[in-house]
This record gives sequence, C-alpha cells and structure tokens, in this order.
Amino acid sequence: MGSAGAWPDKLTNVRISFDSSNLLSSLIGPEHGLTPADLKGSDNAAYAALAAFKQSAEQGTYGFPLLPFQKELIASIADYASKLAGTYDTVCVVGIGGSALGAWALDCGLRGQHPLQAAFSAKNPRLAILDNVDPQFVESALASMTPKKTHVVVIAKSGATAETVATFMIVKDWLEAALGKKAAARITVVTSEGRGDLKVLATQQGYTTFHLPDNVGGRFSVLSAVGLVPAALAGFDIKKICKGAAEMTKLCWTKDLDKNVALRAAQFHHLVWTKKGKTLQVAFPYVNRLWGSAFWFRQLWAESLGKKKNRAGEVVHVGQTPIAALGTTDQHSQVQLYMEGPNDKVFSFWTVDKFATSGKIPKGKLGLEGFDYLAGQSLAKLIDAEQKATAAALTEEQRPNCNYTLSKLDEEHLGAFLQLLEFQTAFMGELLNINAFDQEGVELGKKFTFALMGRKGFKEFGDRFAAYEKKRKGK
Ligand code: PA5
Repeated sequence: MGSAGAWPDKLTNVRISFDSSNLLSSLIGPEHGLTPADLKGSDNAAYAALAAFKQSAEQGTYGFPLLPFQKELIASIADYASKLAGTYDTVCVVGIGGSALGAWALDCGLRGQHPLQAAFSAKNPRLAILDNVDPQFVESALASMTPKKTHVVVIAKSGATAETVATFMIVKDWLEAALGKKAAARITVVTSEGRGDLKVLATQQGYTTFHLPDNVGGRFSVLSAVGLVPAALAGFDIKKICKGAAEMTKLCWTKDLDKNVALRAAQFHHLVWTKKGKTLQVAFPYVNRLWGSAFWFRQLWAESLGKKKNRAGEVVHVGQTPIAALGTTDQHSQVQLYMEGPNDKVFSFWTVDKFATSGKIPKGKLGLEGFDYLAGQSLAKLIDAEQKATAAALTEEQRPNCNYTLSKLDEEHLGAFLQLLEFQTAFMGELLNINAFDQEGVELGKKFTFALMGRKGFKEFGDRFAAYEKKRKGK
C-alpha cells in the first residue's frame, strides 16, 4: 500500500489546496451550481470510492500509488544518471502517449516551456521528445542533434507500439552510423519485463533496461522509470519529485475530505458533470510551467474516463472531454466562447501562490494613462489579478469553476500535483463505476494500422479495412 514504508522520512510540507466555492449554487445559481440537495449523500459516495480503490490497490490490481515509495529503484535511476552525466547534451526520448507526456510535464514544470529554456549543454542537457511519426519532425529533430552528444531513451510499455518502434529503428540507425558498436551504451530502454519485442532487442543488444510494473498503465506511469529515467538524465532531482508524490499519496488515502484534495475534487467534479451536464473540463493553468502538465492531464482524463461500458457491462458512453487552456494567453483566444458559448464546461484553474520571480514592472512613469497605472507593480500581481478577474467573470455568467493552488512550483509540489491528479482520476473512475485503467477504444485503430503496414497476424483487420474502403468509395 501507498502508506507502507518509512519514506518520506520527513514531511516536505507540500501544500496544494482546492477551492470549490464557485461550483456552488450560492455563487452560480441552482441551474449550474451544486445545491445542498445535490451534495446530500455525496460524502458517503466519496468514501465508498476511496474504499473501493484502496481495496484494488491493496490487492495489487493498480500499482501507481506505490511508485513514489520505490526507494531502491529511484536511487538506482538517480545513480545511473549521475554516472552518465556530462557525456551528452541531449536526451532523446522515443515514446508516445503515456510513454512521453510525463517526461514532457516534468521538463516543462521544472525548466520552463520550450523554446524558452536556457541554452542546452552537457551541464544542462535538453529533452528532445520524439512522440510523432511526422517524417519532417523526426528528420529535423535528428538534424538538430549530434550523435556523440545524444543519449537515447526508448520507452514503450507494450514494446510494440508502431510509432515508437519505427522511430527508434531510424534513431538507432543514425546513432550506429556515427558510433558503431559504441551506440549501445548510448541507448536506455524502459519497457515491461515479461513481454514485447523491445525487451527482446534490449537483451540481444545489451542495452541498459529499466522496467515498469505490469499493474501501472502508461498514463499513470510518470513516477515509474517511464518518467523518472528521462527526468534523471535531464538532471532533475527525482528523489524530491517522488518525495512530494509520496506525501500526497498519504493524503490521498485519508478519509478526511478537507485534507484529501484528490477525493474532494473528484466528488465535486463528478457532481458538476453528472448533475449539471458539464461534459467538458478545461484545465486552465495560469503558470506557463504547468502547460506540459495540462497536456499530460488531457491524456489521463480522456483515456481513463472515456468509456463505452461501465463495470456492469452496460453501454454508457461516458466521458468528459478535457481541454487545455493557458492563462492569460487564452483569455485572448478562448474566453469569449467560455463566457458566452454553451454552458457545458467546468473550469479548473491551476495557480501558484508564489512565483520564483515577481517580474517587477519599472517604476518610471511615462505620462500615459494606459501605462502609468502599472508602473512599480509586478507581472506576478498582474497574472494573479487576471486569473481572479476571469474566475469572477465566469462566476457572474454562472459558469462553474474551481481552483487548485500550489503554494509554489518545485520538484516536490510538481510530483505531488501529478500524483493528486492521478488519484482524482482513479476516484472518478470509481464514482462512475467504470474501469479507468484500460483503453480498449484505441486498440482497433492500432490493429488497422498493423494490418495496413503488413504485420503478420492481422489479416482479419486488413479485410475489415478493405470493406470499409469499398463502402467509402461507394463500390
Ligand atoms: O495510457 C496508456 O496505456 C497509453 O496511452 C500508452 O501510454 C500509449 O498507447 C503508448 O503505449 P506504449 O508505452 O506501449 O508504447
């Protein structure tokens, strides 16, 4: 269980709060906001969701809560990365979906949004994430790297995802053409221990390999070797990331809804979604460094909660479409729709109490009314005012919105926040009575792709695709 083990030895004082006031009927009216009658009995439903998920985790069905407590593995990844440090200026991640987005969320969260990071060097290696098979994207990424200064991490839980395998074949070739047999030392593999051709290849070639547990799905794997190997190679303190996540895990197992933010948030989001028909969820960070996390969350929420059937096997076609928006940037792009378009969304603001820098605006007055009121203030104050103003405006328009606030953004808080969102998703799966951990809906497309690319064993899907094509062309 997540609460087992002595780690973290000391609490890190991670503080993440959830403000649900603007989801309530007292602020946005009874048509769109939660009334006392809506809330009645929902604490008990939340406790039942917690108990059910806890039981599954204790039985080992789902493994993500345990990840931040894997002290030996975390130390061995950190050790491995520190031995390689200085031998590369680029960490090239080859992976897709849950095998890429976690690394991106951590990189963006701790070093800032691309392309505004500091210049890369052997002391400050960049992460180049190859998560698409657009040929020009892959070609220009390779053109921007030097084989002798690149360390490749290929990540695939299944060991067989076509996009990852194809891209890796190109990257491997590129590396071997320059380095010959020495290329193998520049490749690290993250995959499942007991299955997949990537594991077979890694063994044949002698690549250093880290495994992820079978009971951890791709989108829940950021704190396994999937996210931690690239993060450690990029120079992040993965022990601190996991320490924050471990502390959050402890909170996520408590029955106290004032402390258990993940459970409280799942409870309120579930009610707003199912009782007020808010079928779109806008993840709205007012922090550029959380932009990568918003994209990571999109996959987590969409793939986990978008399901055809519930656990009883009934067809339910349930799902809440996640949208990523960035404040204040998207105030000038999306907010018109959010204010006046269909009232079908719930807004989740993600803010920080304290930025690492305030962005002081010069004091000097320019004699211009449109400039001078800002003189001597700060960007931190402005972004905070803009977020509060947007929340107030949405509330006046009866648009449900809530706020997650991190006291600051550092390794511990980022690890804790990602873990919180994973628990929130798992609890939501329980409240909806669906399996949040499978993804059968993406399998059919994968099988058609295998058939189209000539993989053995997929003839049935080749025939089905041919029938579809025939219909499309009206033959
Ligand atoms: O959450 C999931 O399991 C998926 O989105 C996977 O992460 C994605 O399909 C990539 O799979 P793999 O790691 O096997 O390449």
